[in-house]
Amino acid sequence: MLRRRTIQYLGLLFAAALLIHLYFISRSDLDSSHLSEWNDSVDVQDPEPKGKLSAEPRKRDAVVAAFQYAWSAYERDAMGSDEYHPISHRGTNLSSSGGIGYTIVDAIDTMLLMGLHQEYSRASDWVRKSLRFDRDGRDRCFNTFETTIRVLGGLLSALHLSSDDMYLKHAVDLADRMLPAFDTPSGLPHTSVNLEARVGIPDAGSYISTAEATTLQLEFRDLAQLTKNTDYWYKAERVMEVVNSVRLPSNLAPISMNANEGSFSQSDIRLGSRGDSYYEYLLECYLHKPCLSTHTRGSQDRTEPVYLKMYEDAMQGIHDHLVHKTPTRKLTYIAELIPKGANWRTTWDLNHKQDHLVCFLAGSLMLGATTAGARTGVVVSVPPKMDELTKKGQRDWKTGVDLLEGCMATHETATGLSPEIVQFQPSADQPNRDWYIKGSKPGGPAGYDARYMLRPETVESLFLAWRLTGNKRYREYAWGIFQAIEKHCRLADGGYATVLDVDTVPVRYDDKQETFYLSETLKYLFLTFADESVLPLDGYVLNTEAHPLPIFRPSIKPMFTL
Ligand SMILES: *[C@@H]1O[C@H](CO)[C@@H](O)[C@H](O)[C@H]1NC(C)=O
Ligand SMILES: *[C@@H]1O[C@H](CO)[C@@H](O)[C@H](O)[C@H]1NC(C)=O
Repeated sequence: MLRRRTIQYLGLLFAAALLIHLYFISRSDLDSSHLSEWNDSVDVQDPEPKGKLSAEPRKRDAVVAAFQYAWSAYERDAMGSDEYHPISHRGTNLSSSGGIGYTIVDAIDTMLLMGLHQEYSRASDWVRKSLRFDRDGRDRCFNTFETTIRVLGGLLSALHLSSDDMYLKHAVDLADRMLPAFDTPSGLPHTSVNLEARVGIPDAGSYISTAEATTLQLEFRDLAQLTKNTDYWYKAERVMEVVNSVRLPSNLAPISMNANEGSFSQSDIRLGSRGDSYYEYLLECYLHKPCLSTHTRGSQDRTEPVYLKMYEDAMQGIHDHLVHKTPTRKLTYIAELIPKGANWRTTWDLNHKQDHLVCFLAGSLMLGATTAGARTGVVVSVPPKMDELTKKGQRDWKTGVDLLEGCMATHETATGLSPEIVQFQPSADQPNRDWYIKGSKPGGPAGYDARYMLRPETVESLFLAWRLTGNKRYREYAWGIFQAIEKHCRLADGGYATVLDVDTVPVRYDDKQETFYLSETLKYLFLTFADESVLPLDGYVLNTEAHPLPIFRPSIKPMFTL
């Protein structure tokens, strides 16, 4: 009874928020008066915001226009194809037997949040009439992780935001075709899956990256809750149990696992590619359930403390081994560890390299600090007061704030865009260069590290930092990044493209508009300038592809517990 009422309440709350939001979109000139609540001349760390965080309509609408520009080019050139190549004006599919709605399904919830009714009506029509998952992928099978976070996650959030059951039918069909990927001796999934044949496809050596195995849980649990099919829950949950049982003493996770043996393989430790969202989902799995008390968001009172324990241990490991500062500008960054020799589980070399992907951790640490790191019984303020947080919460908050500044420093390039990979200087030998891009020379050929692929991680953290502090500085940073994207990634013929070298102007392009530009980058920018009621943080968790899923009281009893 309580459960049903809570869900109804959340639904009503969301509907109300959407109505208010649509009202503001249609009357966007009306609420500019809210802007005067902010004192432009103050430049303190975290000014106390007055009341609710309200929209900045002009900037919000500029982001909506950018979404329409990116989407309409896709719709014109490649509607129905999985991926979009905006320079050659064509689409491609992951399988020769046809698309699985990769771009469309990924973009739908952004349309719903932005109130783009016409775009939504055409995209949902396509899903209704053309979306099919009986694709063989003989040439190229489907990646278990990418298909889950983009397509299953996209379908689920479209369902929650629209209440159209068509999305549930598709989600169930897709998930049923994916479940066989979990049929391994250990329960860790195979890297790929053939959706038509309904079989998991092992990678050579049965390897799967740690992030791929551990970033399926929010989606499968949400579907389990909706359908009461416990298979979805337990198969995804089992993965976390396996990872927990083979943890290293540092509580950090190497980036590669063996799906047959259920063990880590000798591989690097990093918060970037192949490692990142393991740490993100520990926190999100914990936050996915409501607090038992509606008045606090503090630790110990959510329903699955096992994820809190894993999260806290991992954050301790990150602070013990990976958090570093440059000697000159004191920029905070997260280093990597490279295993050494036969005894690789204990001997590691430091590598002062940071993927752009790592910048998700800044916002994640800040969110963790104000939830998992809140003192018992305390309602955390916006911005948080340090005495509202535990010692660990204070530590995580500070690292998150500092890491975000470090990530912003990597935007100090010719374009204002940050590169895919940055090398930090651990010694003061070259005092003028705190960081550099490997292999990059002005005028020379651009290496892989120098590109900007329209990635969302920094703006994701800026969105969370804005919501958790109300500090205008974060909106200013986000606006600066948005303007750099507009200036350098926007194509005259429509759409946006990857920039090959962030440190060379005029820029050259790679012929690709990544689907996460529509689902994540523009959504986070939009949410940063929208009214906070559009997506209240205490009602939702966002999956790693920025698809919001509601926080719920589970009707399925977890099997993996402390
Ligand atoms: C804005 O901040 C400045 C500097 O702290 C202060 O002198 C001024 O009174 C503030 N103005 C308003 C409207 O709060
Ligand atoms: C990709 O698949 C979709 C759906 O089957 C189809 O509409 C589209 O034309 C395909 N694109 C290409 C480039 O073959």
